[in-house]
Amino acid sequence: MTAHYAVFGHPVAHSLSPRIHAAFAKQMGIAMEYVAIDASPADFASAVSAFATVGGRGANVTLPHKERAAALCSQLSERARRAGAVNTLKRVGLQWHGDNTDGEGLVRDLTGRHGLDLRARRVLLLGAGGAARGVAPALLDAGIQELWIVNRTPEKADALADALGQPDRVHTRYLADLPNLGNYDMIVNATSAGRGEADFKLPFRLAEARALAVDLSYGEAAIPFLAWAQAAGCEPRIDGLGMLVEQAAESFAIWHGQRPETDEVYAELRAHADALHTAD
Ligand code: ATR
Repeated sequence: MTAHYAVFGHPVAHSLSPRIHAAFAKQMGIAMEYVAIDASPADFASAVSAFATVGGRGANVTLPHKERAAALCSQLSERARRAGAVNTLKRVGLQWHGDNTDGEGLVRDLTGRHGLDLRARRVLLLGAGGAARGVAPALLDAGIQELWIVNRTPEKADALADALGQPDRVHTRYLADLPNLGNYDMIVNATSAGRGEADFKLPFRLAEARALAVDLSYGEAAIPFLAWAQAAGCEPRIDGLGMLVEQAAESFAIWHGQRPETDEVYAELRAHADALHTAD
């Protein structure tokens, strides 16, 4: 029987997840259907229960529903609980279990695919929404030295820092403090500010020479921050396409018990993105 899987988002029509999971299912010889379901914030909970009613076995959750998804789960993995955000739902009996594979996906992409060493880094994390919450615990577990969280709404940065529970390594600052923060050897953009804005205005001196710059978005949404990072002298500069593929592989493993190979799918998507100069 074909099992039912989906990605919930808003908007979600251009999500690459259906393509990635179709490739994984083919590779592993598993029959599964994976569709994109657009649900507004107000409709998210009812859309997820309607999906369960028609036999939904698992789902990915993307922007802007990751924190909302955590609230629907009767059980959360340790990393989802620490993140306060869920990107992977698994149906167990009549309940949803929630996990978060974003952080693992990011760390695998940076350390595995790109061969980077994250240990001892002084990291600036821009944003404190679902995406930031998903990756922060994994960055700490990967051995970074300090995490500085800056968010437009400072209360959300403080809430994330509290949830991480490591006051010796995790600090928050106001957006207005950025010019005085010194410099970082890793800067992660986890805001959605690139979507729809031409400019990314940050002081160049935030970046140490050859700082690692990472945007959790990909395609057009990643362009403003990565253009800033180039002007600031960051090297390497990495978008979220590899993380997307790696988090998908982790989700696939949660549902099916086997982790697919990611290199081929990543190479295909990267070639396509480069050809278009955008990918979404
Ligand atoms: P996601 O799941 O992608 O994290 P989200 O939970 O809606 O989506 O979070 C979006 C993040 O981008 C938040 O940190 C948001 O800041 P606020 O918490 O102050 O809303 C940030 N963000 C969005 N647009 C922004 C902008 N124009 N400038 C700065 N930060 C922005």
